[in-house]
Amino acid sequence: MKHLINLTVNGQKMTVEVESQRTLLELLRDQLSFTGVKEGCGDGECGACTVLMDGQPVRSCLILAVEAQNTEILTIEGLAAGDGLHPLQQSFVKEGAVQCGFCTPGFILAAKALLDRHPHPTDQQIREAMGGHLCRCTGYETIFLAIKAAGSKRR
Ligand code: FES
Ligand code: FES
Repeated sequence: MKHLINLTVNGQKMTVEVESQRTLLELLRDQLSFTGVKEGCGDGECGACTVLMDGQPVRSCLILAVEAQNTEILTIEGLAAGDGLHPLQQSFVKEGAVQCGFCTPGFILAAKALLDRHPHPTDQQIREAMGGHLCRCTGYETIFLAIKAAGSKRR
């Protein structure tokens, strides 16, 4: 069964037709071509598919597209204004927190939600925000340092 849903993605209002069983991940990646949303496990375990829904990090593989009705979604494509990098992206590059990059959009969006709630997060809050996000490359410490550095630059 098909449904028409209204949502906003990266500031752009849209109406899209989706199948009942289509996930938000499939809608964003396959239908709308926001390929910065990564599919890792497809089962809620890795965090690669994380996007912000009304400012909260969600695993888009676990959410049906119809549940995004009347929400605002932010993907990594909508994070930076213009051609420059967002401060979190700059920080990840500076700290060497990006290797293959597959996990990076999920980590950065989760970090954005954290810094929006807690501009100067504690180490514990950073580690909790990183919880459930898997990275096969970096060993996590550089990601932790990148989030910490981005927080320390906030006023
Ligand atoms: S792809 Fe969604 S949590 Fe792994
Ligand atoms: S940078 Fe490769 S999985 Fe994290």
